[in-house]
Amino acid sequence: MSPATDAFALAETLRQHGQSHLLHGIEALPAADRAAWLTRLASIDWAELHHPSEPPPTSAVGPSRVVDGAERRRRGAELIAAGEAAYRAGAVAVLMVAGGQGTRLGSSAPKGCFTCLPHSGKSIYQWQAEKILSLSRRVGKNVPFLVMTSPMTDAETRDFFAVNADFGLAAGQVRYFCQGTVPSLDREGRALLAGPGKLLENPDGHGGCFTALVGSGQLARLEREGVRHVVYIQVDNLLVPVDDPVLVGLAEVERADVVTKVLEKAHPDEKVGHLVRIGDRDRIIEYTEVTPEQTRQRGADGQLIYRWGSPAMHCWSVGFLAGLAGKGYKIPLHRSGKPLKAWFADGLREVPGWKNERFIFDLIPEAPVSLGLAIDREDEFAPVKNKEGADSPATSVELVHRQAVRWLTAAGVRCDLPAAARIEISPRFAATREQFLARWDRRIPAVTGDWYLEE
Ligand code: UTP
Repeated sequence: MSPATDAFALAETLRQHGQSHLLHGIEALPAADRAAWLTRLASIDWAELHHPSEPPPTSAVGPSRVVDGAERRRRGAELIAAGEAAYRAGAVAVLMVAGGQGTRLGSSAPKGCFTCLPHSGKSIYQWQAEKILSLSRRVGKNVPFLVMTSPMTDAETRDFFAVNADFGLAAGQVRYFCQGTVPSLDREGRALLAGPGKLLENPDGHGGCFTALVGSGQLARLEREGVRHVVYIQVDNLLVPVDDPVLVGLAEVERADVVTKVLEKAHPDEKVGHLVRIGDRDRIIEYTEVTPEQTRQRGADGQLIYRWGSPAMHCWSVGFLAGLAGKGYKIPLHRSGKPLKAWFADGLREVPGWKNERFIFDLIPEAPVSLGLAIDREDEFAPVKNKEGADSPATSVELVHRQAVRWLTAAGVRCDLPAAARIEISPRFAATREQFLARWDRRIPAVTGDWYLEE
């Protein structure tokens, strides 16, 4: 095809999808910029942007199969044995998504660079990387640590790890891959600009990790290495465990395509995504997609159908992901209304717009074998989302502190603490309660104020 035909085809595609304005005035761009602009426009799937995903029907929703606390305790030994064996065989990788823009936190640097640990001053990246280090030492394998960045966080993230010598991880243990971006639209569905010849784009959501994992060759590499399970975490949860034999063991024993960790909701109106079943498939239904009446519906067992909230932690089967990739599966886009700062002929202006993103949990309905695993909120969930108030660095650090107090108390240490005191235990010493109890050497009988334990 000649460039002229390409340009013609592109103009026609743009016209069909209401985007012809993107070609207005391109003659004024320098030749190189014009070529780059046309190449970018031609690489976008305008049809999918035009038809975002619809919320699922909520008329026939039932409960998902969830391994609750009682079942977890009953099957603990079996699950831990299976999970341990998988970790020790090198069959587990950890994937951390860190491509978000962290707008609510209000920092221009990647969220992972944010320093908030009370005594060490460690960044979130260091905190998470040291958990991988601790796990790798414990199981005697360099657990692959896949870090998804976006064009907005890639260079800074790589530099940050590099200047910090990968926080002690082995050479090559951190595997970066970069997610894609998608154009933001105005409320009429027309692509917005960030400047002349430059689309206004955002990273394509945490669900972008599926396409990027495949496109970067990282998924194929995991398959070649015999990795069977990918533990998926989000960078901004300080308490998220990566050393979790129960999770991996459950995936292994049940031959699950996906295990989704769930929290019992604090009350029916809590604003979380819910793990539920529709027909023979699980899926996550967002709180925005259900009515208050629906969230109060009960199933045959008397329990709320929308009982389990998702804190965005999963264990994915590599075989399942590879199967979907083989079929050319693409996670759909969702639109959310946001004020967006866009460029117009008269300069930058904030306008109501649509941000488009893919959600990782849209993979769940593709999974024939899916189940939930109930977890304790206080042990695993401490998100850093906002600058202040709920889900902020302060609340997250307090939850980390409280976990440390529980570990010390369980080890027989008296904790007599003023409210403002903060305890921090380095993941290099212990990243799990079990590891802490195994390593604790009774070095002190009591803690009465701020206290930090490094290795
Ligand atoms: P959030 O949805 O909380 O977004 O991401 P965010 O970017 O961190 O924060 P806001 O909404 O702009 O304030 C949850 C997790 O998903 C990752 C984030 O890095 C975080 O770990 N994420 C989000 C990506 O990796 N890519 C994205 O495009 C969006």
